[in-house]
Amino acid sequence: MTNHVPVIAIDGPSASGKGTVAERVAAALGFHYLDSGALYRLATLNALRRQVPLDDAVPLAGATRELEISFRDGKLWLDGEDVTEAVRTEAVSAATSRVAASPQVREALLERQRLFLRPPGLVADGRDMGSVVFPHAALKVFLTADVGTRAERRHKQLMEKGMCAKMADVVEELRQRDARDSARPVAPLRHYPDALFLDTTALTIDQAVGQVLAWYRERTGN
Ligand code: DC
Repeated sequence: MTNHVPVIAIDGPSASGKGTVAERVAAALGFHYLDSGALYRLATLNALRRQVPLDDAVPLAGATRELEISFRDGKLWLDGEDVTEAVRTEAVSAATSRVAASPQVREALLERQRLFLRPPGLVADGRDMGSVVFPHAALKVFLTADVGTRAERRHKQLMEKGMCAKMADVVEELRQRDARDSARPVAPLRHYPDALFLDTTALTIDQAVGQVLAWYRERTGN
């Protein structure tokens, strides 16, 4: 039984910093961490490598169900190969938001995501953690920042990895991805009324982490 195991769901748009905040909150509480976007990225890379057409839902969902993946040593593995960097390229990012629009793919990943729920608790980040995957989460946060700030953060990350990118292209790519993630009919990116809104535009990571922990303590008394 995992019903009593607490979940903190952190949803929000790309490059909002939710992954970093979620990981830090998990570490502070000693909870497990689920980066659900990584699962969608792995499903996409797998489909690209196997030449499964991204718009053909049935084989795409079939390949997703059979994914051979693991999260080990802080890295992502697909068929035994370290693909931590490969899933973060802009090409895979763009393809992932198309793959993630498929209801069949989302269904194929649902149970895999719920398997991350183990004592003493889970912090899960994505787009539909609080709305679909863990609707009974103890705390739901919608974490965002304005698009200029998110683009700067993404741009900095890309430069640190030695990848060149023009700022204008990064902004445009984020806008397109947000639009696709928000417009899809199934599990769209949205600020649901039961999620607390956290705008990190003017916050440091420490402040954002502190706010989520404070809300969690208020909710649960822990
Ligand atoms: O969080 P991220 O940028 O790694 O997510 C990659 C893509 O996957 C993004 O286009 C949104 C999609 N995604 C989703 O649809 N649902 C989730 N729970 C997580 C990610």
